Amino acid sequence: MMKTTSVHGMWSSRLMFVMAATGSAVGLGNIWRFPYITSENGGGAFVLVYLACIALIGLPVLFAEIVIGRRGRMSPINSLKELATSAGASTAWSGIGWMGIIAGFLVLSFYSVVAGWTLSYGFDYLQQLAFGAPAITDPGAHFGALLADPARLIFWHAVFMILTMGVVALGVEEGLERAVSILMPMLFVLLLILLGYGMSTGHFQEAVGFLFSPDWSRVDGSMIVTAMGQAFFTLSLGMCAIMTYGAYLPSHVNVPATGVTVALADTAVALVAGLAIFPIVLSFGLDPEGGGAGFIFTALPLAFNSMPFGIAYGMAFFLLLSVAAWTSSISLLEPPTAYFVESTDMSRKTIALLVAAATWLMGLASVFSLNIWSQVTIGGRDIMGAIEFLAADIMLPVGGLLIALFAGWVLSTSITREELDEKMPSWAFQLWLWLTRVVAPLAILLVLGGILGLF
Ligand code: PFF
Repeated sequence: MMKTTSVHGMWSSRLMFVMAATGSAVGLGNIWRFPYITSENGGGAFVLVYLACIALIGLPVLFAEIVIGRRGRMSPINSLKELATSAGASTAWSGIGWMGIIAGFLVLSFYSVVAGWTLSYGFDYLQQLAFGAPAITDPGAHFGALLADPARLIFWHAVFMILTMGVVALGVEEGLERAVSILMPMLFVLLLILLGYGMSTGHFQEAVGFLFSPDWSRVDGSMIVTAMGQAFFTLSLGMCAIMTYGAYLPSHVNVPATGVTVALADTAVALVAGLAIFPIVLSFGLDPEGGGAGFIFTALPLAFNSMPFGIAYGMAFFLLLSVAAWTSSISLLEPPTAYFVESTDMSRKTIALLVAAATWLMGLASVFSLNIWSQVTIGGRDIMGAIEFLAADIMLPVGGLLIALFAGWVLSTSITREELDEKMPSWAFQLWLWLTRVVAPLAILLVLGGILGLF
């Protein structure tokens, strides 16, 4: 039986879902993570592998998540449980939802720390603008000083978590929709201005070359894992965030068209961010392969110092980044909140508070890995890097693999066809079905198996 509404509320239109899902997808992953890992992986070849992962794995899984969410109309754990039961399959499939909650908890724990950096930078520029505070003349030292100061990191991490919790506590219509419908358009405008500046630096061509001409000798197993992890991370896939948003999607909305819109918007933002940032990096003689999590924080202030209205601009940029991070982190907190709203007697507000508090506490591990625990390594990575690797590069693809198998093999084709689009041409449906059943799962298995040393 098909449910038409969710107890948590509904998106009021297709556009609202597109904005919310794009808000989830577009975030630090596009503007902080994409440039820095592209840089670390040498540019062109990495970007092309990443784009292939988006098309062949990301898109089918994106459709699968929306289909499962909308059919189930509940939090991922309960939707999966119910759909598995009615298909006569094991309720163990709801484990995908649990894994998603754990992955989301880990992602949000470090994500909100990085979002805290952006808030801190936004505030620094605000102070320069409003009170004439000194300019950031040595961006490397400025960034280093921030990372070395646990109290400042914890403060901004907390501010960001409170902002996220506030929206989730208000619920779908009042909180999520209102936030995204104001914040998303703002974000696009600010990003286009940044692109305009990038184009004016005289290094645009060179940046295009770096981003798109592949040096295939750079391709190896770990690069492909990173590219695939980034495809999942950037589209918010593999941890049931989009599945949760799909549960609030009205039944008449066409899933393929909507999914493609979201994926295109997300990819466009990452590429535009790259095209805006790399010319700046090159124009200041910085190493485009310099990489590191501080990439944009150390490179961009140089540009903001020398461009007209650079301080106001810098403030706008870091504000943009905080906004983008905010609409993404809302979608990281919503799945566990929806589950506990369904499964306990506590109010949405109390649950949002408890989940946010637990995630904030977990985030302290990332905060301290930047300073007092910087010597501690797990598998050659610092604590924050290890959490990022485990959650984004391993758990999200594993989640995506199971989601694809569930949508492809457990749900009947009559259900998936009905949810996707009954008027869809048969070849298009078959294409999605076999990408979901075979191509995406096999690709994920091969890549992950490779990195774990199985082949
Ligand atoms: N897609 C977000 C970004 O690119 O910043 C991050 C993210 C959000 C990942 C939600 C996973 C998720 F479920």
